[in-house]
Amino acid sequence: MADDLCFFFSKDSFIIKAPKKSPLALRMVVLVFAMVCGVYICSICLKQIGIRTNPGFLNVEVIERPCPEPNIEPWETPYVHYPRPKTYSRAECKCNPVRYFAILSMQRSGSGWFETLLNNHTNISSNGEIFSVKVRRSNVSTITETLDKIYNLDWSSSASKNECTAAVGLKWMLNQAKASGIQPEQQGVMRHHEEIVEYFKTRGVSAIFLFRRNLLRRMISILANSYDRDVKPLNGTHKSHVHSPREAEILAKYKSLINTTLLIPSLKQVEDTTAKALEYFKSARHIILYYEDVVKNHTKLLDVQDFLKVPRRELKSRQVKIHKGSLLNYVENWDEVQKSLKGTHYESLLSGDY
Ligand SMILES: *[C@@H]1O[C@H](CO)[C@@H](O)[C@H](O)[C@H]1NC(C)=O
Ligand SMILES: *[C@@H]1O[C@H](CO)[C@@H](O)[C@H](O)[C@H]1NC(C)=O
Ligand SMILES: *[C@@H]1O[C@H](CO)[C@@H](O)[C@H](O)[C@H]1NC(C)=O
Ligand SMILES: *[C@@H]1O[C@H](CO)[C@@H](O)[C@H](O)[C@H]1NC(C)=O
Ligand SMILES: *[C@@H]1O[C@H](CO)[C@@H](O)[C@H](O)[C@H]1NC(C)=O
Ligand SMILES: *[C@@H]1O[C@H](CO)[C@@H](O)[C@H](O)[C@H]1NC(C)=O
Repeated sequence: MADDLCFFFSKDSFIIKAPKKSPLALRMVVLVFAMVCGVYICSICLKQIGIRTNPGFLNVEVIERPCPEPNIEPWETPYVHYPRPKTYSRAECKCNPVRYFAILSMQRSGSGWFETLLNNHTNISSNGEIFSVKVRRSNVSTITETLDKIYNLDWSSSASKNECTAAVGLKWMLNQAKASGIQPEQQGVMRHHEEIVEYFKTRGVSAIFLFRRNLLRRMISILANSYDRDVKPLNGTHKSHVHSPREAEILAKYKSLINTTLLIPSLKQVEDTTAKALEYFKSARHIILYYEDVVKNHTKLLDVQDFLKVPRRELKSRQVKIHKGSLLNYVENWDEVQKSLKGTHYESLLSGDY
């Protein structure tokens, strides 16, 4: 078309006998015309590319569309997650929000029992005492990697419920059980508390503190458990938790001997650890539970389920309590223990059923 026009113009110019400078003007006209054509063609091309890429872009969006906004309060947003496990697909539950939690407790404070209760919920996976394995708590990076894996639903344990899990977590001990005064080895949560609190806050992890009110009963449970570890009266196997009244009865036969010199200092040490942990983690979202309250008051388990935003269920554990009733049946030197605690603020620990 441009050629034709050029020809026409040149013919025309030839006929009209235009002045000498006209070929230059004509060339300019042709050039401008060609440029306009070029820009026009280009713009059409760009428009077509645009049309072609737009639906593609939309398709991608349809495939990877984020899950619909959950109906939550604004403050909850940091605590709602949609993990994409590397090892499997969350399938029909991929748009079910997941909450992250950590049970922070101490040995023989009912946390094993509490965890079986949580795991009785179809939508809760509590993966146990992950950091009892030393290499996982070597340093902050191994701790973070381990937590990332758990919270991404990539941790595999008997408790993992995978695709339809709505709350995932672990049990983390603030200290290890040691009845003696020896400084117990810790699971890293107190040593690296600053980084862990930061992780909890940035990743939206909620803490569930589980403490025991009666620290004397806890001490007796520790002593009995360590006796069981050595003697193994249940057919040569060590059991920290039992599932039948018969086994509980056998384990409850043992009477501990409490070192009264160390009694008050070690009760105080547990109180100090508790206070310290609460201080360290107070800025993270948390709930505080006491074993005795959970035993006595069923509302506490509903509180936990509400805290984790899972549907309320009746939760059951198969575990049977070992030390029931008065403590005097479980302590060899009960008189001595009574004498040590009378008149101190620990006196109330001598009574109480749990
Ligand atoms: C919860 O406990 C009950 C009674 O022991 C049991 O029948 C049920 O299968 C448990 N549910 C889960 C998810 O473990
Ligand atoms: C952390 O510990 C792991 C395992 O013990 C080790 O491989 C790694 O180098 C350590 N990292 C740092 C930063 O110390
Ligand atoms: C709980 O798990 C069931 C399947 O076991 C699933 O259908 C349901 O959507 C889950 N609920 C939540 C809140 O994720
Ligand atoms: C020990 O094993 C025997 C035989 O398997 C069984 O009958 C008994 O109940 C077991 N005792 C305890 C305390 O578990
Ligand atoms: C109690 O513990 C103290 C300090 O460890 C120790 O010196 C003492 O011998 C112990 N007493 C008994 C009766 O074991
Ligand atoms: C049980 O716990 C709930 C809150 O968790 C509390 O409101 C209620 O008073 C408690 N009931 C008893 C009998 O202590």
